[in-house]
Amino acid sequence: MKKRFILFLSIIMLVGILAACGTNNKNAGTKDKKVLVMGTSADYPPFEYIKTKTSDEIIGFDVDLAKAIAGKLGYKVQVKDIDFSGLIQALKSGQVDFVLAGMTPTEKRKKSVDFSDIYYTAQDMIVTKKDSGIKTLDDLKGKTVGVQLGSIQEGNAKDLNKKVPIKIENRNRIPDLIQEIKAGRFDAAIIEDTVAKGFIQKETDLTGFTSNANPEQAGSAIAFPKNSDLTAKFNKELQKMKDNGELKKLIVKWFGGEQ
Ligand code: ARG
Repeated sequence: MKKRFILFLSIIMLVGILAACGTNNKNAGTKDKKVLVMGTSADYPPFEYIKTKTSDEIIGFDVDLAKAIAGKLGYKVQVKDIDFSGLIQALKSGQVDFVLAGMTPTEKRKKSVDFSDIYYTAQDMIVTKKDSGIKTLDDLKGKTVGVQLGSIQEGNAKDLNKKVPIKIENRNRIPDLIQEIKAGRFDAAIIEDTVAKGFIQKETDLTGFTSNANPEQAGSAIAFPKNSDLTAKFNKELQKMKDNGELKKLIVKWFGGEQ
């Protein structure tokens, strides 16, 4: 009887210990873990993308930047791929510790998350087929224009629609926008220039022009849960990387030139 009871107790304790280990290593938001979970939408070369068709490793500028900053703070980074429109929610629910996804700090997003300082700036580009005849924003009148769901480009398209009536379509992933243009279902898509240029280089039937629709909200920053103590720590390291040229090195590595 006594033996059984001791066995029972040991099992309970073992289960308890295992559960504790599990939470320590995996859950975002645990205090004393050494791993930070980064949320991103890996459809955005060269910021973040899946390296090859055969591996699911996520690489890119944002991944390098995250690893550099977190490394200096004594953390490892685990990258989690989530649709762009789900990233803010993933932060709010504690599924991820921070988001690095070329995300622009807008007033609306600032209501639910905190942002670091800007680490890169970009402009919108209108991507079309070479033979589309679309050369200015006015040429988009009556056309079908694709944007990534939940992106600021979706908002910019709505603003444009007030001046030049267009039909707005959204997709979860950037490569889907590219495919829809190629297939002739979209006349154009609005994508940030650094990312758009990469696709245009690969897809020789595509071209694009930049549009300065919203220059005041063109930067990318790191997003954190509200009141996270990581924000100040990351900002400090980011500033050091700006000062000592490390950030510039990463920009040259991934974008092939300085800003
Ligand atoms: N900068 C834009 C925004 O914040 C687009 C970012 C899209 N990022 C991505 N990984 N797909 O809305």
